[in-house]
Amino acid sequence: MTGSAGLIGSEAARHFAGLGLDVVGVDNDLRRYFFGEDGSTGWSLRRLVRDLGGSYTHFDTDIRDRDGLEQIFKKYGSDIAVVIHTAAQPSHDWAAKEPFTDFDVNAVGTLNVLENARHHCPDAPFIHCSTNKVYGDRPNFLPLRELETRYEIEPGHPYEDGVTEDMPIDNCLHSIFGASKVAADVMVQEYGRYFGMPTASFRGGTLTGPAHSAAELHGYLAYLMRCVMEGRTYTIYGYKGKMVRDAIHSYDVVTAFEAFFRNPRPGEVYNLGGGRYSNASHLEAFRIAEELTGREAKIRYVDQPRVGDHQWWISSVAKFQSHYPDWRLTYDVPRILREMYEANADIWVPR
Ligand SMILES: NC(=O)c1ccc[n+]([C@@H]2O[C@H](COP(=O)([O-])OP(=O)(O)OC[C@H]3O[C@@H](n4cnc5c(N)ncnc54)[C@H](O)[C@@H]3O)[C@@H](O)[C@H]2O)c1
Repeated sequence: MTGSAGLIGSEAARHFAGLGLDVVGVDNDLRRYFFGEDGSTGWSLRRLVRDLGGSYTHFDTDIRDRDGLEQIFKKYGSDIAVVIHTAAQPSHDWAAKEPFTDFDVNAVGTLNVLENARHHCPDAPFIHCSTNKVYGDRPNFLPLRELETRYEIEPGHPYEDGVTEDMPIDNCLHSIFGASKVAADVMVQEYGRYFGMPTASFRGGTLTGPAHSAAELHGYLAYLMRCVMEGRTYTIYGYKGKMVRDAIHSYDVVTAFEAFFRNPRPGEVYNLGGGRYSNASHLEAFRIAEELTGREAKIRYVDQPRVGDHQWWISSVAKFQSHYPDWRLTYDVPRILREMYEANADIWVPR
């Protein structure tokens, strides 16, 4: 598993260890380099090691380090039952600062993991964390209506229940991050189609959960909650704060991974988000956070939206559910925020 100390990686490590598998984690806390101390996942790794004990083995290896990665794959070889690839540079804004680093981690790093899997464990299901940003800013061309607290798609539109995987991914603005993730996403599909490996790209909406190392540039729901709890000012960029995201809890993400692991298919892509079940605009999320904390949010508003930011995104999970009918979403936005509040009540205190 790569990115094992991250939001999704740590949840997956716990979940798969709970299924009785030994977990081998690869994570060098590059998130700290990306986002500073607030973004470090060191704390999460320490908890993982403490909680999983002997069923977790950690490697502080960078996925850009081909030789280092190969040593790990060689060591475990065909004993590897599943590869879960979550390590990434995950932020739009950060990617433009260092395009080489972004591409080397997201695109080349994914190829490094794929190629090792092909040589050492080609039959192991390969689960890749892609993103809805592969659709670039195309969702912003959907016919939207402005309501009191959010944007909404026109009623009766084919994507009313969420955007499906048939949305084209090219001829639109992606940001540097979106482009490196497209490269990885297509490569993962190709290892399924061309080499016949059981690979899947999960195109995440807003992935979130209590293990998020909330930083301003990544992890908006956790960061929003943290700001309200600590009395920090949160900056909303554009769209009057009415942009809609669907949020999926890391638990619901890893149960989807488990379903794929148990019954894999080659070269699949799936949109994976909270869908109609779990979504909110920034304004709506603030309202829920204020109710939970009894504190008033401090919001600064900047007119200019972030480059490539979606004005409205709700994933359709219909394709995944048609392949895996037993999988269900169990967390909606209020439940996600309540859990964050309770988990961090002693840590995110007013400053
Ligand atoms: N969180 C979201 O909202 C979201 C949405 C869509 C897609 N995704 C994708 O899901 C995946 C997981 O996201 P997350 O929120 O868990 O991210 P995260 O930043 O919490 O975790 C990623 C982990 O990977 C590690 N890492 C980064 N580069 C590395 C490298 N070169 N070598 C070794 N380790 C490295 C980081 O230190 C971090 O612990 C990413 O691919 C991300 O692009 C996330």
